Amino acid sequence: MRRPLAALTFIFPIGTILAATLAGSQLLAQPKHGAASHPAQAQGASSSDKIARGKYLTALGDCVACHTVKNGASFAGGRPIQTPFGTLLSANITPDQKTGIGDWTSEQFYRALHEGIDDDGDHLYPAFPYNYYTRVTRADSDAIFAYLRTLRPVHNPLQRNQLPFPFRMRWLMAVWNWLFLDKGEYKPDASKSAAWNRGAYLVNGLGHCGACHTPMNILGAPKNSQFLQGGMFGNWFAPDLTPNRRTGLGSWSRQAVIEFLKTGRNPHAAAAAEMGEVVAFSTSKATTADLKAIAVYLEDQKPSPEASPAAPDAQQMRKGEAIFIDSCSACHRMHGEGVPRFFPPLRGDANLQQKNPTTTLNFILAGVQSTPTDARPTPFSMPAYAWKLNDGQIAAVETFIRNSWGNRASAVSASDVADARKKIVKAGSQYSKPENRGSLRHPTPETFAPPNTDSRDNGTAKAGRIVPGGPPSASGSGAENGGTSHKQPGGRSTGGPG
Ligand code: HEC
Ligand code: HEC
Ligand code: HEC
Repeated sequence: MRRPLAALTFIFPIGTILAATLAGSQLLAQPKHGAASHPAQAQGASSSDKIARGKYLTALGDCVACHTVKNGASFAGGRPIQTPFGTLLSANITPDQKTGIGDWTSEQFYRALHEGIDDDGDHLYPAFPYNYYTRVTRADSDAIFAYLRTLRPVHNPLQRNQLPFPFRMRWLMAVWNWLFLDKGEYKPDASKSAAWNRGAYLVNGLGHCGACHTPMNILGAPKNSQFLQGGMFGNWFAPDLTPNRRTGLGSWSRQAVIEFLKTGRNPHAAAAAEMGEVVAFSTSKATTADLKAIAVYLEDQKPSPEASPAAPDAQQMRKGEAIFIDSCSACHRMHGEGVPRFFPPLRGDANLQQKNPTTTLNFILAGVQSTPTDARPTPFSMPAYAWKLNDGQIAAVETFIRNSWGNRASAVSASDVADARKKIVKAGSQYSKPENRGSLRHPTPETFAPPNTDSRDNGTAKAGRIVPGGPPSASGSGAENGGTSHKQPGGRSTGGPG
């Protein structure tokens, strides 16, 4: 249901003028209902099964990541989310009567996931990815709702209408929905296997993988013709997930996809940045059957088109090689072969060969820490180089690793690095303000439970707890670690074998 974008140019100015007077006054500023009576939780086996299922589905939806602030109660909302329209705060979805969703019905909850409309009939913004959650079945929505009702109610009043005019007018989202929302539960494709259909349901629904991995238009809607071919999300480029052999998952086995989503690492890559959160809070909690379903569905996508980048400049390559040998080869090894599952190989690395180098440039500038999971509790770190290498040097080393050992991707210029540096330094300085910690822009070490605490607490209010009786045993994966570093984005890293 694609409508011409041109329609917007007409609708937005007209809407702006009519806003406050017409439809807007109906839809905006309605007071929240008073507390409705809250039926006691039904007891019994079927209801506890439903709640357990709801808890699992809530993890698959990664609801906790957006609905929790650093040191805040899980699901109590308030996390700032960047959108093309300005910064939004996520909502309190604990069952508090006044400030949460305590007086919502399961019907209203389903309508929120399905149509992006709240209990008062006001429009929600698509920063809440209801354009994906619309695929969720009524039974799954009810189970999630039943689980959320069992949480401790947290009183957390939030000033959620902070967008600048005209976007503050929520009814404008009716226009967005008309243009872009393809509403409706997932409809199974009878010609495909049960696993494929389950994968399609998860990737396009609760998993909302396309919210990051599909490029967006200027109004924040996915470009469906480039489904999962890689997109910007905040300061990060979420790479191609199609079966392209160079830039996508074409050279990963099904098992490798499952291992990455379950443990955050595999022989090819390590999950960090936004994906680190997705793995920590969501996919690492999924069953192997569900992860296999995701892999089966991804394998069956149309590969993205092959790029044919121009050959890099020989002098830039020589300069990059010298820097690589000097600064990087200790961990990534002389021929980019890395130490699989510890220091990711750069040879054949898909993430590194994206047309848009932002993510790997950010890693080089600001350093990066891999995500701890139950299976891989010890995070490994790469130091930041922003303080040590200038823009031309980082451009050279990035161009070198994008074009060595069989890799091929467009060259990177000093001005590309200068742009990335400006953004990451800005994000870093915003991060140093306590109220912005834990926003979606850049995971700091604080986003995760620190090393020597229990990674199983990630994503819960207990994150960072020292395990009673000492740190968890690293089951063989921690011994080689030369000390994990605590770094700030744009800052200097300490420790690590580098
Ligand atoms: C990418 C971030 C993100 C994720 C993931 C996310 N939400 Fe939200 N959610 C938001 C934001 C932001 C808002 C507030 C939107 C607004 O004010 O228009 C919101 C609002 C809501 C609301 C409306 C509450 C109210 O009082 O109006 C509900 C219900 C909700 N989310 C449930 C969920 C559930 C359930 C999940 C997981 C299946 C989830 N969210 C996952 C960002 C997210
Ligand atoms: C909030 C944004 C976001 C969401 C949602 C998201 N991803 Fe990612 N993903 C990223 C980013 C950013 C990266 C690159 C960072 C990194 O190297 O870990 C990435 C990397 C990956 C990689 C590694 C690819 C490679 O070439 O190394 C895989 C596989 C992946 N994502 C799968 C998924 C799947 C499957 C889903 C849905 C269940 C998903 N992602 C949801 C942001 C996201
Ligand atoms: C102390 C060891 C260490 C050194 C030195 C090091 N790295 Fe890394 N690097 C890592 C680790 C660990 C990761 C994985 C982090 C993650 O993504 O979870 C990584 C990830 C990367 C990635 C992203 C791989 C991917 O696909 O996700 C790139 C690119 C990279 N490093 C390039 C470099 C360059 C260029 C240098 C030198 C300027 C360098 N590294 C120096 C440890 C190191």
